[in-house]
Amino acid sequence: MMTALRRAVPRVAACILLLLAGGIARSDPPEAPRSRETDSAAVFTKAAVAADHPAASAAGLEILQAGGNAVDAAVAVSFTLSVVRPESCGIGGGGFMVIHLNADPRYGTLSTAINYREQCPRAIDGDFYTRPENLGEDVTTHGAKAVAVPGTVAGLLYALEKYGTLDRGKVLEPAIRAARDGFIADDHTVASAMEIARWLVKQPGRRDRFRFVWKRLCRGSELRAGDRITLPEQARALELIADRGAGAFYYGEIARAIVSTVSADDGVIGLADLGAYRVEEVDPLTVRFAGRTLLCMPPPSSGGLALAQTVGILERLPSPLAVHPVGSVESVHLIAEAMKHAFADRARWLGDPAFVNVPVDRLLSNSYLSDRAAQVRPDACLPLASYGTGPDDQADAVTDGGTSHFSVLDERGNAVACTETINLTFGSLLAVEEFGFILNNQMDDFLTRPGEANAFGLTQSRRNLPDPGKRPLSSMSPTIALSTTGEVELVAGASGGPRIISATTQAAIRAIVYNSSAADATGLPRLHTQWMPDKLWLEDGLLDKDQREALSKLGHHVSDKAPSAACQVILRRDGRIEAACDRRKGGKPAGY
Ligand code: GLY
Repeated sequence: MMTALRRAVPRVAACILLLLAGGIARSDPPEAPRSRETDSAAVFTKAAVAADHPAASAAGLEILQAGGNAVDAAVAVSFTLSVVRPESCGIGGGGFMVIHLNADPRYGTLSTAINYREQCPRAIDGDFYTRPENLGEDVTTHGAKAVAVPGTVAGLLYALEKYGTLDRGKVLEPAIRAARDGFIADDHTVASAMEIARWLVKQPGRRDRFRFVWKRLCRGSELRAGDRITLPEQARALELIADRGAGAFYYGEIARAIVSTVSADDGVIGLADLGAYRVEEVDPLTVRFAGRTLLCMPPPSSGGLALAQTVGILERLPSPLAVHPVGSVESVHLIAEAMKHAFADRARWLGDPAFVNVPVDRLLSNSYLSDRAAQVRPDACLPLASYGTGPDDQADAVTDGGTSHFSVLDERGNAVACTETINLTFGSLLAVEEFGFILNNQMDDFLTRPGEANAFGLTQSRRNLPDPGKRPLSSMSPTIALSTTGEVELVAGASGGPRIISATTQAAIRAIVYNSSAADATGLPRLHTQWMPDKLWLEDGLLDKDQREALSKLGHHVSDKAPSAACQVILRRDGRIEAACDRRKGGKPAGY
């Protein structure tokens, strides 16, 4: 084992220097290999948008070029994603947005976070999914009982009205056009559609129930890359929203259509639930890392806290991470160990802070992180229980197409990191047909049945039980890093269930610790671990057979099932703006 470990650390001289220096932040970090520019990565000089669909990045660029700021562009990107990534997000879902404004004429320099996560309906409590009538296997994932009250429209319009500069009609134009004129199905949409179609083929009874997804989005298993999909019904919804604002969605015609769709499928969301939906604006979770200030999403995101804990533990290791090359056995082991502590705490402590006490300060305190760091062994994993609560039976995590992340940086130095979700691929599969959008299945992000993991294999505590008005725990991790001089350096985040956290954390570590390009921070193969199930997933290309064996000997249960997170990164460095979209999903950045 030691031979394999040594083989993976070739830069002995650099190691000694860095060991002497201590800490994770290095003034002279090891150089990571830089990948060539591709369709998925580009360099700009003033502004950039990186979304996981080219049409969405283009929508953001259109709004920036019309004089809008990063928030205007973000709202345009998001509404466009609602049309062109129906498998991932949309007006039937929710999200988180972290905003940094730079010397804004109205607000000065300000960092804020918008929570527009879906809310639990009033008729659902902690026992709902264990009642005999709700015990069906997929009640928490498919159909109306899986749907939480959507927050996207309220959140986007809140951000636009408070921090944007253009009017609603203008920022909604690209989305309305995309819905009316159509968009071309790409590989990701087709793969997502086929995943669902294969299931529906075996479930004839469900094909009528989920007919919009089956007929319009999967084309009854016949959807092919290059096909044009039009959503004139969603164009009408977006026109109503442009015309009348959030009220159209929460009180008006769209609200009534949502309620009638949900009721027809035996669900419980009523007009009162929609009318009660509220956006929350909160301070970002702000942590120092490697001389930077990270602006992360606080709970009910678990992602910001887990990212902050992971880098906080790594920063306190006696031997710094940066002595080990990116993608070496040692760096994979150390990152995985730090992440397991963070995921164990996620499982044990986290929930919606409006309902339960989440000990954020304690979990991020110097003494706690130092204690966790001291437990990390360079030569072995710890017993599972040492990372937190005890072992449990867990299934493999499902792949996730139901989330989307985008990053925006405008020429005034304002930035938005935004992640949105309908949860699993095509959400609940239930569509509001009159308005052409899919409803989320975010209720599965709660602890719906104590003792059982959710669809992502995540163990959760009773703090995350459903309760009327409560928001389910999320892994979404939109993150902005400010440089030592206070300027936006990195805008990052990902989609992919709990792999959002590992992908975003690795992107930040690669960009900040290893000085990687945006393309490499996004594109190089990644690891994923979430403490439970006790597995270390390694993407193809990350470590060879001998190195994987070395990790197994350390106690990792190595699996080669590839994590499928998709990460969008903007990195400002040396007067250049690098923007990269994850080649795993097919986005393309735009900018100037
Ligand atoms: N629905 C995925 C997440 O919020 O973590």
